[in-house]
Amino acid sequence: MINSKLPGIGQSIFAVMTKMANDFSAINLSQGFPDFNCDEQLIELVRKYALQGFNQYAPMPGVLKLREAISQKTKRFYGFTADPDKHITVAAGATQALFTAITAIVERGDEVIIFEPAYDSYLPAILLSGGIPVPIELNENDFSYDWDLVKSKINSRTKLIIVNSPHNPSGYMFTENDMAQLCEIAENNDLLFISDEVYEHITFDGRKHLSFLSYPQLSAKSMVISSFGKTYHTTGWKMGYVIANEILTAEFRKVHQFNVFAVNTPIQYAYADFLADDIHPNALPGFYEKKRNYFIDELKGSAFDLTPASGTYFQLLDYTKIIKKDDFLFAETLVKDGGVSVIPLSPFYSQKGKSRYIRICFAKTEKILKTAAEKLREYSLKR
Ligand SMILES: Cc1ncc(COP(=O)(O)O)c(C=O)c1O
Repeated sequence: MINSKLPGIGQSIFAVMTKMANDFSAINLSQGFPDFNCDEQLIELVRKYALQGFNQYAPMPGVLKLREAISQKTKRFYGFTADPDKHITVAAGATQALFTAITAIVERGDEVIIFEPAYDSYLPAILLSGGIPVPIELNENDFSYDWDLVKSKINSRTKLIIVNSPHNPSGYMFTENDMAQLCEIAENNDLLFISDEVYEHITFDGRKHLSFLSYPQLSAKSMVISSFGKTYHTTGWKMGYVIANEILTAEFRKVHQFNVFAVNTPIQYAYADFLADDIHPNALPGFYEKKRNYFIDELKGSAFDLTPASGTYFQLLDYTKIIKKDDFLFAETLVKDGGVSVIPLSPFYSQKGKSRYIRICFAKTEKILKTAAEKLREYSLKR
């Protein structure tokens, strides 16, 4: 017999809803991935390097050329100087980077502050490391932070705070005031941060992503994680990276070398070339803002309430005018009777029954967004 190490945890909601989308032939707006292809030039580069024979193990921390390109890009965007040898490690996606970072940092009995709704991979990694999650809820209306509450939860057992901006699922982005509060927490407490910045380049209405790397008080105590999948429309290639100081990087790599060792070689070379200019990341805000606005316009006249997302490729919809029902049940009936699969928000909370929202992903073609919005509008008005 085996004793489950994660007794309270079932299949991820993304897998559940994607399966339901397939079972009921519904439009899948649940899982966060684009339904359009990445740049052909990027595919050509992978092909080029694979044909040239770059098909064996990459170095454990990542291909040097890619780490150099990440270092230069980080300098251009955030003014941070990362030494490719000492500070940057390439990972098999942000999920692996998060798992490895949490495993490297958290010891049995350590308290870890997370903010709910929280991306669903943080909690299991904390639990498997013997850590004690300390969930703090974001404001239910605008998903802002109550910093007095955060400070009141910090004590001598607090080892780690995990943050995510731009935030999945709400799209909330840290403000200068949030960063000032975080800097104060970093200065006054002996703890570490993981900053999940995978949506760093998907920001709207002129907002600018504020990275932990731009604040010395924060970068000194953090592992900052990003993912190429979100920026380059390549979520299926599962590649990301972590930037941290020399001591934290050494600990990260101790774990990394035994749960992954190294990641896909030709793709690393391809990204290294592709990162040389910022054309793609700089085009992303306009690209996704257009999709967000298009979807919101197409949804006009429905009974859903919404506040346009500030960042990420997700939009929350408040369904409480339509039906007073648990969000999972609402998502279930929506996929069966309305023909659209979405993500209920309660799996992002440790306490059930918390949410009045569903999340949709608008990283889709306009054709799909139009049909999905039509179906959502009709369904919302029928009820
Ligand atoms: C907040 C957040 N962190 C991490 C990840 C994982 O990224 P990757 O696909 O690179 O593992 C995701 C993906 O949806 C995410 O939304």
